[in-house]
Amino acid sequence: MSHPDHETLSNTSDNPHFETVLSRTLSSPSRRAVLRGGVGLAGLALLPGCASLAPSAPATAARLGFESLEKSLLDDVVLPPGYRYTVLHATGDALDASVPPYSNTGAEADDWSRRIGDHHDALEIYFIDTQGRYTETDTGRAVIVVNHESSADAHFMHPNGQTSNGVSGKKFTQFGDWDLGSRPQLEVLKEINHHGVSVVEIERGPQGWRMKSGSPLNRRITAQTPARIAGPAGHLQDIRAQMATRWNASGEMSRGTLNNCGHGKTPWGTYLACEENWAFYFQMAGTGPALPPKEVAARRRYGLPSAAPAAGQARATSQGWHTVSATDDRFARWNLGATGASPAEDFRNEANTFGYNVEIDPLKPGSTPVKRVAMGRMAHEGAACSLPKAGQPLAFYMGCDSRNEYIYKFVSAAAWDPKDVGGGVAAGDKYLNEGKLYAARFNADGTGEWIELTLADPRIARYAGFKFDNQGEIYVHTRHAADAVGATKMDRPEWAAVNPRNGEVYVTLTNNSAANRTPGRVDAANPRAYTDVDGKKGAGNPNGHIIRFRENGDRAAATGFRWDIFLFAAEEDAGDANLSGLTAKNSFSSPDGLWFSPTTGICWIQTDDGAMTDETHCMMLAALPGQVGDGGKVTSKNRMVVNGIEQTGTQETFVGAALGEARLRRFLIGPKGCEVTGVTEAPGGRALFVNIQHPGEDSKNVQDPQSQWPGNRGYGPSGRPRSATIVITRTDGGVIGT
Ligand code: FEO
Ligand code: CA
Ligand code: CA
Ligand code: CA
Repeated sequence: MSHPDHETLSNTSDNPHFETVLSRTLSSPSRRAVLRGGVGLAGLALLPGCASLAPSAPATAARLGFESLEKSLLDDVVLPPGYRYTVLHATGDALDASVPPYSNTGAEADDWSRRIGDHHDALEIYFIDTQGRYTETDTGRAVIVVNHESSADAHFMHPNGQTSNGVSGKKFTQFGDWDLGSRPQLEVLKEINHHGVSVVEIERGPQGWRMKSGSPLNRRITAQTPARIAGPAGHLQDIRAQMATRWNASGEMSRGTLNNCGHGKTPWGTYLACEENWAFYFQMAGTGPALPPKEVAARRRYGLPSAAPAAGQARATSQGWHTVSATDDRFARWNLGATGASPAEDFRNEANTFGYNVEIDPLKPGSTPVKRVAMGRMAHEGAACSLPKAGQPLAFYMGCDSRNEYIYKFVSAAAWDPKDVGGGVAAGDKYLNEGKLYAARFNADGTGEWIELTLADPRIARYAGFKFDNQGEIYVHTRHAADAVGATKMDRPEWAAVNPRNGEVYVTLTNNSAANRTPGRVDAANPRAYTDVDGKKGAGNPNGHIIRFRENGDRAAATGFRWDIFLFAAEEDAGDANLSGLTAKNSFSSPDGLWFSPTTGICWIQTDDGAMTDETHCMMLAALPGQVGDGGKVTSKNRMVVNGIEQTGTQETFVGAALGEARLRRFLIGPKGCEVTGVTEAPGGRALFVNIQHPGEDSKNVQDPQSQWPGNRGYGPSGRPRSATIVITRTDGGVIGT
């Protein structure tokens, strides 16, 4: 979701942008060696810790076997010659015969709890063996799990768009005056249920992969589904104390998951649905005592309301779900007001139950999802697991997607045991409750540090911005803890992905605004400040970049790493901002989704852009990556007009080897107004699964939508646009991308 107004800056900490360390020169001997050698594949094995990886590491494709796409403004999914796609499922499809086929007119009378949700985002496939168990082998039978990020623009599921303040369809903007008046109950139920996650069985037949309607494995997890609160045993009581509500006074259970964006796949075969922009569903309403200052600080850091709006005023980002009924808990729970005598009598703590990685066992439709609180609370974009090595801990790399937020990792206390494959959420209890949570600091010399978020750190124990009383509060107010230790503010961290060949971690930094990046406020890891070349998206870092790092000793539990910038996204005519030398054939903007094919080693990059969408829709590119340190130093020449005055400056940083048109190509361009997100493959790489999210996002009304995809290509009723999962194959049956 390209939610430009959702990334409201709530990081007011004064953590450094590294202006003070700009002039540091290279000091790390290992980095010098890497830079000097321009180390390629052969040199990799010479680096400490790399030799053990080399024998089993899969090979990366030697070359990309397709022609890069020209830019496209077509209302279709465009692929290179020799490729085709089919739609696997789309918004509103029925999971079984209990609900009628989707009308695509907004006429549904059911509550959507048995339909495919909206805004398809991350996805993952779990194969099923003949015993019904999880397997990594392609058996031709699987479930596909899809995040339904959804968000605020739920127009097309209603006859005339969303109703706000009694007017249907008039407020065809992301945010209305929701709080004034009462929203229609059926509209709100449909909106609650189009969020969350879908799990559906798919099977491969003569016509390719198809969804199996009516399978007992078909399941929806929505913003209403009960979930278990889990965390470190020693701090669980302190965690649960922050989650007591009228619905569950013990804080052991919560309800629902929201804005599931990126995801994680655990080595034991479960799914992590990551909760991103969950703060925008809550409101303060009704009278009640003013909140204590600590609670106000807690809420502000996450963009939550801490006071009721003045009479007659609306909070711009509420969805008004609480306006349906003050007594029905399905709706009252979205009101964070302290309306009762204690937290057990109202929903003042409800927002503390969102912002986590939610573990789901995709093959057990009756299992209860689990909120993994030890992995921290943030705008979770994704959770990418390190390469699992028997006998060593696992690390999960996580971005917090808002402007100036941080990159985190969670390191399990338990060492990986391959016998836990298939262990479901019980295995999750083993690996995801006990461990250490870290935030990343990127130094100007190309090194980085993982800083543990622990009350034992006096910077946290004595932090003035938020008084931590116990370790349990660090997991729930994680952003404050990362502020306290001086983590590096990044240009909106999106997905992380781990290169299966060498374990390096890549993180997309999608963009940042002029409020945060100026020539005077850059650092080595976020080095650019410039203006969108044709003025579509203002200034700051409107195109984003992809950073990557390699853990010291290739250990998941390392507390230090080396980094460089894999790619600077840019328009080809962006001048000094085009630091990766992109051309009209491979220019892109606002990287978001990111994933490596274990078959080909291709790094797939997906965009959610608003800066070059006047020239081309959002896209997916294939990149053949090298490794950290394979490039060299570069100086970003920054230039921006700030408050009417031109500012200039330079920032030195480290960039990967230029890929050129041979190693970076456009593979897919989506229909109008979409973002491209979520990608995985069937083992062997001959089928690629990709999500197309919110085609027609820039529509002005439901009658004349910006996009009509996929109905305009023969999938389902024509007319309104729908998010969808597509399956891409080669007409000759070959491996995708090679
Ligand atoms: Fe949901 Fe950060 O994209
Ligand atoms: Ca341009
Ligand atoms: Ca995203
Ligand atoms: Ca532009």
